Amino acid sequence: MSATHIENVERKNLVILGSTGSIGRQALEVVEAHRERFSVVGLSAHSRGDVLMEQVRLFKPKVVGISDREVADSLRETLKDLGVELFTGEDCLCELSSLEEADLVLNAVVGSVGLPATLEALRRGKTLALANKESLVAGGELVMKALEKGGKLLPVDSEHSAIFQCLQGEEVTGVERIILTASGGPFLGKTREELKEVTVEQALAHPTWKMGRKITVDSATLMNKGLEVIEAHFLFGVEYQKIKVLAHPQSVVHSMVEFKDGSIKAQLSLPDMRIPIAYALSYPERWGPPFTTTDLERIGELTFGKVDLETFKCLNLAYQAGFMGGTATAALNAANEVAVEAFLQGRLSFLGIGDTVERVLDQHHPEKAEDLNTIIEVEKEVKEKTRLLIEDRGGG
Ligand SMILES: NC(=O)c1ccc[n+]([C@@H]2O[C@H](COP(=O)([O-])OP(=O)(O)OC[C@H]3O[C@@H](n4cnc5c(N)ncnc54)[C@H](OP(=O)(O)O)[C@@H]3O)[C@@H](O)[C@H]2O)c1
Repeated sequence: MSATHIENVERKNLVILGSTGSIGRQALEVVEAHRERFSVVGLSAHSRGDVLMEQVRLFKPKVVGISDREVADSLRETLKDLGVELFTGEDCLCELSSLEEADLVLNAVVGSVGLPATLEALRRGKTLALANKESLVAGGELVMKALEKGGKLLPVDSEHSAIFQCLQGEEVTGVERIILTASGGPFLGKTREELKEVTVEQALAHPTWKMGRKITVDSATLMNKGLEVIEAHFLFGVEYQKIKVLAHPQSVVHSMVEFKDGSIKAQLSLPDMRIPIAYALSYPERWGPPFTTTDLERIGELTFGKVDLETFKCLNLAYQAGFMGGTATAALNAANEVAVEAFLQGRLSFLGIGDTVERVLDQHHPEKAEDLNTIIEVEKEVKEKTRLLIEDRGGG
């Protein structure tokens, strides 16, 4: 492609929710590599004001959102001097995703706090690149309904990006099965007994991916894979029975689709989130040069195996919540968010995460997930219940 051609491309007006996080920062690396293709119109942070300010100076957004009010207050004057508009508080994510000039919104915040902004972007007809899987787990039905308003949803999660790529040019009716690959995290092959004394540091040492703290713990418990099963169910309209998880410690095959005729399509690359992020931001085009090239000769071997569902009960619980339907997946997610936070703060053991979520889910009576208020109420109630259960366990 000639330089003149690149100069003439239409710029995408991009908003990044959660720009200070792992996905957000990598998305800005993609933007940096393709500066002529993007105008960054909005960025958001929660607590990392210093990182946000660096990004503001580099990418010159018109607007920023800071959900933590103290951090927002500390930066108000500086932002004013730079001519950057400031949105604050929880609603800032929705305000950013509904910006008139935004045509592409990347939701890269962590947790179901991202759900309202997902809904807002889609209802406004924007293209939404979705990393925030908790949006779909907590409110999958609502998200798919909001999509009917004319927006577009592009997956960022590497597994779902892989499936999305395998499905290009295919009919969903031809799909026999979706095969999600799982690195297995740092504890693949361990027994429950061996996981009794797991420390936060050990759980955060992921062998193949460098990610935010919450998703890294979710990867170690395999709840992340469970959340991805639910995410895949909603994104691709495939029944839970047809979504299989396979352990694949190299994290090179990011997922696969098996078709009715026996063919299996897969998408491969070395583990580098900038690849699926760039695909979502460039879709339907593909832009080079690549961030990472994948030398299969050097990789040599790709292996696949069964996942131990007894040790990693969180994956089973996610299927269970999926089968229960309605608000059950929101309840699973809310309980998990509280349990992971407690683990990271040393108030709950590693195995306690799954045990606690199991107890919460067993006691949950799902309602229809018809509107955002129902989900917010269920989440509030479940989070409170989970906190009490964790207190009762006394750190175990
Ligand atoms: N990291 C990966 O490789 C990866 C891969 C696939 C999918 N995902 C998904 O992508 C999402 C982000 O993951 P991550 O690893 O990038 O997480 P992360 O590094 O922890 O970043 C999370 C982002 O969300 C912001 N945030 C946190 N709490 C918030 C709140 N209450 N309100 C508004 N914003 C809030 C953070 O702001 P501050 O940093 O300023 O506090 C940060 O910008 C998650 O849903 C994860 O499951 C991540």
